[in-house]
Amino acid sequence: MKPIVLIAAMDAGRAIGRGNDIPWHIPGEQKVFRELTMGNALIIGRMTYLSLPRPLPGRYCIVLSRSFVSQTAGVLLATSLNEALSLASELPGSEITVGGGQEIYKLFLPLANRIHLTVLDATFGGDRFFPLLPEDEFSIAASERVEGPLPYTRFIYERRSRLPS
Ligand SMILES: NC(=O)c1ccc[n+]([C@@H]2O[C@H](COP(=O)([O-])OP(=O)(O)OC[C@H]3O[C@@H](n4cnc5c(N)ncnc54)[C@H](OP(=O)(O)O)[C@@H]3O)[C@@H](O)[C@H]2O)c1
Repeated sequence: MKPIVLIAAMDAGRAIGRGNDIPWHIPGEQKVFRELTMGNALIIGRMTYLSLPRPLPGRYCIVLSRSFVSQTAGVLLATSLNEALSLASELPGSEITVGGGQEIYKLFLPLANRIHLTVLDATFGGDRFFPLLPEDEFSIAASERVEGPLPYTRFIYERRSRLPS
């Protein structure tokens, strides 16, 4: 099984979204998301998919939904976690990336091998949140401080022990 990699940005209060949008814009942050997901399967929930202005080029987008119907070229639909994983494992790319939102992060967290988590210094408030990481399951493998008008720290968490395959 390819590594499962969650990618998220949250504020100081763990908020990731508000009104089905992200309540901040961090210059440069989209570039990192793009690099991490490019050429890989990208699993997202229906609400996150609907929040995007357009499908993301270069990614094999899998939208999780129990009911959604879409005929958008390049977008695959999955009705369960297992179906999403099965589709993703057959697509090109070295990793299975997971791009939110709240429900999908929560669903995939128990399977995640790595988490790229951007943590803003500021609190924006929101109605969707990133789940708490069990400290005994994940450790910080790397971190990078980024100063600027919206300072933040980028963390890479790795699962402490491999999940049984
Ligand atoms: N800051 C960040 O890094 C970041 C990244 C991504 C998104 N976001 C934000 O997160 C928010 C959206 O999060 P959300 O929790 O509301 O929605 P979501 O996780 O994007 O999508 C939820 C939908 O996924 C489907 N789903 C969930 N579990 C499923 C399962 N086990 N099997 C099949 N389908 C399943 C359901 O669709 P159906 O109802 O169709 O069945 C559900 O309504 C937005 O505000 C967005 O901007 C933030």
